[in-house]
Amino acid sequence: MSDPLSPRALRLQSELRKASPQSFADRLLEFLQEKGGSRYDEAVTQLEHGLQAAWLARQAGANASLVVAALLHDLGHLLMDEFEGRSDFLSNDLLHERIATSFLEAYMPQEVLDAIRLHVPAKRYLCSVDPSYLNHLSPASRRSFALQGGVMSDHERRSIEAEPFLDSALQLRRWDDLAKIAGKAVPAPQVYHADLMEVRLLA
Ligand SMILES: [Fe+2]
Repeated sequence: MSDPLSPRALRLQSELRKASPQSFADRLLEFLQEKGGSRYDEAVTQLEHGLQAAWLARQAGANASLVVAALLHDLGHLLMDEFEGRSDFLSNDLLHERIATSFLEAYMPQEVLDAIRLHVPAKRYLCSVDPSYLNHLSPASRRSFALQGGVMSDHERRSIEAEPFLDSALQLRRWDDLAKIAGKAVPAPQVYHADLMEVRLLA
C-alpha cells in the first residue's frame, strides 16, 4: 500500500522529528496556513474550520491540550491531501482521525491524541445518546455520519464510555460541529503558538 501522506506531509514529518518546541509550533502553523486554503465544506476552508474550533475552545476556557486538539483535529485531511481536486472528500472515509493521531503521536500528550482519535466516533456517540443531535449537523456531516458507521451498537457505546478522555472528545466534537460559519472573524493561527509549544513539552 502506498504511503497515505502527501510528499509535503512527509517533509513536515522529517522537520518535526528534529524540531525544538519553538520550531515545532512554527512548522505546524506554516503547514496549516499553506495547506488549509482548500474547502472544508460549503461554508468554510479547512483553516477557517480549525481556527473557529480552536477559538470556541479558547473562549470556553479549555486547557492548551484541548485548544490544540480543536485546532488540529482535521489535520489528517491535510496530511493526505484528501480534498485535492475533489469536492466530495467528506463523503469518503479515509480515516483522517487515525492518520492525524499517528502523525502526532510522538509529540503530543494523550489528551490531545485521544480527543483527535475519538472526534469521529464522538459524533456517532452523541447521535446515539441524543438522536436530536443529528438535526444540528451540517448536511455534509450528516452524510459522513452514515459513512462512518451511523448509530452505535450497545457494545460500541460501552467501549467508548471506557475511554479516559471521552469528555474531551465530546467537547471537541461540539466545537467541531459549530465551527462552520461562513465569514466568522477569529484570531490568526499565531495566537496558538504558545499552546502548541506547551503541549509539545507535555508529551
Ligand atoms: Fe472538523
